[in-house]
Amino acid sequence: DDPAKLAAFQVRIDAGEKIEPKDWMPEGYRKTLIRQVGQHAHSEIVGQLPEGNWITRAPTLERKANLLAKVQDEAGHGLYLYCAAETLGVSRDEMTEMLLDGRMKYSSIFNYPTLTWADMGAVGWLVDGAAIMNQVPLQRTSYGPYARAMVRVCKEESFHQRQGFHIMMAMVNGNAEQKRMAQDALNRTWYPALMMFGPSDKDSVHSSQSMAWKIKINTNDELRQKFVDETVPQAEYLGLTIPDEGLTWNEETGHYDYTEPDWNEFFDVISGNGPCNVDRLSARQKAWDDGAWLRDAMTAHAAKKATRNLA
Ligand code: ACO
Repeated sequence: DDPAKLAAFQVRIDAGEKIEPKDWMPEGYRKTLIRQVGQHAHSEIVGQLPEGNWITRAPTLERKANLLAKVQDEAGHGLYLYCAAETLGVSRDEMTEMLLDGRMKYSSIFNYPTLTWADMGAVGWLVDGAAIMNQVPLQRTSYGPYARAMVRVCKEESFHQRQGFHIMMAMVNGNAEQKRMAQDALNRTWYPALMMFGPSDKDSVHSSQSMAWKIKINTNDELRQKFVDETVPQAEYLGLTIPDEGLTWNEETGHYDYTEPDWNEFFDVISGNGPCNVDRLSARQKAWDDGAWLRDAMTAHAAKKATRNLA
């Protein structure tokens, strides 16, 4: 890239201007955004699977309607985000192929199973809670289409987080077995939720460049700490115990000290070896294969129309 163009681009970023699809941008900026927005879109789509698993088994009609609406919202988020990524010059088909052949990732969290109904509470409360913590600052990200997509996504995520907390409240106020299920769901979801923010800052290869370009607004550890600080009082309110004996309030820093996740587990999960990676990707592969006839028909129809227009 031409150094003068790069410098002028950085001036626009530093002035807080939004970069729009037809504006000049460094190739690295475009590439990083395709990676992050595409990965974010895949996460929303794959993220439907662990909760979709419980729609037919929701305990009441109201819970079922809420869960159904939430899972549909996630599909919508995936679609806005694919559209935002497409403005950078990559097609949705290409991104899907990259997901299926392992060139693109999706969030580590969706490689864990949802074993009981209480997991619907823990996922809404913690996973959507962590997603909001990460996405609220992204409303100020420098790329216009991504920032605007985040506005609506955040409104919906906040409903998701509340419906999860509401399920947890019902479980902890239920019988002893229901309370045990809620604690068990928290025990299994806590560390995977902390891992959603990405590796610790010292291992985050993309953070410094992404922050200079305002593709990211905060570091991984900053957001993780904010999440811990906000979530501990919520767990106390529920009467549940966060599964971390090292968790203590630190008067000096004004934050909770907590035990780091097992980073070996994190890197293992993102390299394809989590408990559900194979299942999740095979579900996406099946959906892609099942839709092939429709994609072929649409392409043939478009080609026929184009010839007719020429004639
Ligand atoms: N799951 C899977 N992969 C991850 C995760 C995670 N939780 N965290 C980091 N990684 C990957 C990165 O993609 C990168 O690998 P790559 O170079 O092959 O792409 C590697 O680990 C190193 O991490 P970082 O350098 O810290 O990567 P980055 O700067 O992209 O930060 C983060 C990661 C925080 C997830 C960032 O991409 C982001 O904010 N993304 C947008 C939010 C998002 O995707 N949310 C999905 C959550 S679920 C939901 O909303 C439904």
